[in-house]
Amino acid sequence: MANRQPLIGGNWKMNLTPADARGLCSALLDGLDAGLLAKCGVSLFPPFPYLSQISDLTAGSGVSIGGQDVSAHENGAYTGQTSASMLLEVGCTSTLVGHSERRHGLGESDSVLNAKVLVAMKAGLDVMLCVGETLDERESGQSEAIVLQQLQEGLQGVSINDLGRLTIAYEPVWAIGTGRNATPGDAQSMHQSIRADLGKQYDVGSANGVRILYGGSVKPDNAEAIFAQPDVDGGLIGGASLQSEDFLDIVRAAVATVDS
Ligand code: PGA
Repeated sequence: MANRQPLIGGNWKMNLTPADARGLCSALLDGLDAGLLAKCGVSLFPPFPYLSQISDLTAGSGVSIGGQDVSAHENGAYTGQTSASMLLEVGCTSTLVGHSERRHGLGESDSVLNAKVLVAMKAGLDVMLCVGETLDERESGQSEAIVLQQLQEGLQGVSINDLGRLTIAYEPVWAIGTGRNATPGDAQSMHQSIRADLGKQYDVGSANGVRILYGGSVKPDNAEAIFAQPDVDGGLIGGASLQSEDFLDIVRAAVATVDS
């Protein structure tokens, strides 16, 4: 894993009541001792209406919070959207961009996602750019071409100086919420291609500093084998992030790869 500290993200999606969200957060904070947090970053992505309360709960804990999405615009007449500065105001340090439930589910194009990346970074947020191929694209042998195109178009205009703000999440669409995960070898091979492409777009040293997470049906029983791959720097977790014990086990799996 080179010198990259692993990162585990919990994407709560559109789940949980306010009380359940507070309960989940408290259970996570109880389980995340300083020893774990010294070895593994943890970021939570709660639904927008809960960000303030989760920000209050996590303040000073070492656990960071982020938006599940961000507007491509700085402010103005964009009903229903949330700006990067609003996310910062409620305590977010990062945002997801291009999760497949927005890229594929809502038809967000690479150019819209690129605008989101640039606006978020300009405002001072870290960005987790999600990329991934559909099942059809995988079966027709286009996975790598599709993922690298998403990567290159998503990062247009991002300067080498801003790479410190960037995390990539490789999330094959066919693995999200399906119980079907990529094999550790499949994940490693795509992560390696992503890192090599970042090396070409920027330089190899900078590419080696970027964390590339795997997402898609990561569970306590498959996490360690995936995270043990040299170019896999942790995971973006959906379903299993809603169960505190499962999520904590996944964080421990990431720490185990550092300790081993
Ligand atoms: P999953 O979701 O872990 O439920 O497959 C991953 C994600 O959507 O980020």
